[in-house]
Amino acid sequence: MDERTRQMLREILLSATVLGVFGILGAALVAFTWSATAERIALNEREMFLRNVYKLVPREEITNDLLKDVITIEAPTLSDAPVKVYRARRNGQPLALIFSPVQRPGYAGPIRLMVGVRADGTLGGVRVLSHSETPGLGDKIDEEKSDWILGFSGRSLDDPPLEKWKVKKDGGVFDQFTGATITPRKVVAAVTDTLLYFRKEKERLFALPAEENPPNAPKH
Ligand SMILES: Cc1cc2nc3c(=O)[nH]c(=O)nc-3n(C[C@H](O)[C@H](O)[C@H](O)COP(=O)(O)O)c2cc1C
Repeated sequence: MDERTRQMLREILLSATVLGVFGILGAALVAFTWSATAERIALNEREMFLRNVYKLVPREEITNDLLKDVITIEAPTLSDAPVKVYRARRNGQPLALIFSPVQRPGYAGPIRLMVGVRADGTLGGVRVLSHSETPGLGDKIDEEKSDWILGFSGRSLDDPPLEKWKVKKDGGVFDQFTGATITPRKVVAAVTDTLLYFRKEKERLFALPAEENPPNAPKH
């Protein structure tokens, strides 16, 4: 091999090394940015989830880490999909269960709810996590559109009695919306079914062992 060829090989090797180093640096940078972003997204989701939870059960009443005190249930009356149950406790005693998401078809698509039931069977409250109901009609179930959903807080299967857990049009106590009865009817039914499930399963739900690896950041 003559000197010229050796020189050329050296240059090729140098170029390849420089390219390789930059390639590795670039990949590392992308990986780092991705993991930092994923972490931030997970943190945001966790915060958003907890903000909703604390609307249903005041933060200062909860003494356990309810994101680590989770079970997953199969409950066809609440959802076709598995439902997570987050267990709030106060000094080790049952305080409330957060069912999320309770889901059923609305008028235009699935309605996903977060339902908080206190240990005494009263509702801490209900929030809509997502829906596809029609703007101006069914979307009044959304807290940002009307305060209808707040009307569940403090209610129980004794208030009103079970036969009155319906919209007014069906002989119950809950308002329907003008031109939109289906959506509130579905939500009232979903909340009633959650209360019935709670009444039947409460002891078991509080007693089951917590999941080993609950999601660190539940989806909102
Ligand atoms: C385009 C369109 C969108 C509608 N969106 C909804 C809706 O989001 N929620 C709902 O309850 N009803 C919706 N309705 C009205 C229902 O068809 C129904 O008339 C209404 O819920 C009243 O039900 P009722 O006859 O049992 O009282 C919509 C109707 C139309 C034509």
